[in-house]
Amino acid sequence: MKKFISFLCTALLLMSCKSVRVDENSGNLQAGKPFRVAFGSCNRTEMENRFWDDILVMKPDLWIWGGDNIYADTDDMEKMRQMYRAQLNVPAYRDLIAEVPVIGTWDDHDYGLNDGGADFTARAESQREFLNFMGVPVDSPRREREGIYTSHTYTRPKGKVRVIVLDTRYFRTPLKKDPNREKRYIPHKPGEGTVLGEAQWAWLERELGESDADFNILVSSIQVLSGEHGFETWGNFPHEVQRLIRLIGASGAQGVFILSGDRHISEFSRMEAPTLPCTLVDFTSSGLTHAYQNFRGEPNPYRLGEVVARESFGAVLLDFNKREATFQMRGDGNEVLQEVTQKY
Ligand SMILES: [Fe+2]
Repeated sequence: MKKFISFLCTALLLMSCKSVRVDENSGNLQAGKPFRVAFGSCNRTEMENRFWDDILVMKPDLWIWGGDNIYADTDDMEKMRQMYRAQLNVPAYRDLIAEVPVIGTWDDHDYGLNDGGADFTARAESQREFLNFMGVPVDSPRREREGIYTSHTYTRPKGKVRVIVLDTRYFRTPLKKDPNREKRYIPHKPGEGTVLGEAQWAWLERELGESDADFNILVSSIQVLSGEHGFETWGNFPHEVQRLIRLIGASGAQGVFILSGDRHISEFSRMEAPTLPCTLVDFTSSGLTHAYQNFRGEPNPYRLGEVVARESFGAVLLDFNKREATFQMRGDGNEVLQEVTQKY
């Protein structure tokens, strides 16, 4: 039966590359009223982000920061505060957050240390600055917890969406450098090291297990499925990838997919596994202000379509009636650069 469902999911996975501008208020989208998510990562405040106005036009239900929201790279909290303040003062960003709820995660540069993990000495102080930037109330229990992981549930007349925001920094074991220098990093041995740490794993298990949402969005700053490129990825901890796949399958949670960033490229990855109830999509959207323009290709057995190595943001349209998600890479003026639709 599982095989059949998996086949059905694949058969229903539609993909198209097109270059059209989307009118968010046109009949089709308004009538079905999908839940709209906009997200993106890698945002240098001192560089122009051309998308804030487009995201506002899109009228999303929320904006999700995917990490590297500023490039702080410092353990000096005064410097970090200044950079967050500068981002909060970007006029077009101010316009966006006046209308759209903002949530999200951090990656290494806003965490404070390039490719940093649990070894970053200023992580507790940095967490405070991050929560301030996100407007988390001073009396929130998140202020007492180590790590910035959290979840948000949105209820609409036709269905429910849960966004599970992971922290892939605070507890992550230091990475293993490639002694042959062919890649930057090589995977740890099976069972060695962690991405999430035990407390966050236990929390994630509850979040997925208890969720009655129609769609469950996992936000991971780094890629989960593309694991062979040798940069930062869950693939540097293969047993953690396996654990996540097993957990998603065992949890019974509906409509699970992943949003990731970090890479300064955008791509769709998707995996079929016997333990998964449906195709698992990892939508990487990265490069709000600067992209990996010299990208010359890299292996990713899960890739669907082409890598987009230019500045873009991600849009996800969740249709409760059809039980499908449309994932879109969008450029300036809401031009759709590539899209894929997944049935759940
Ligand atoms: Fe980045």
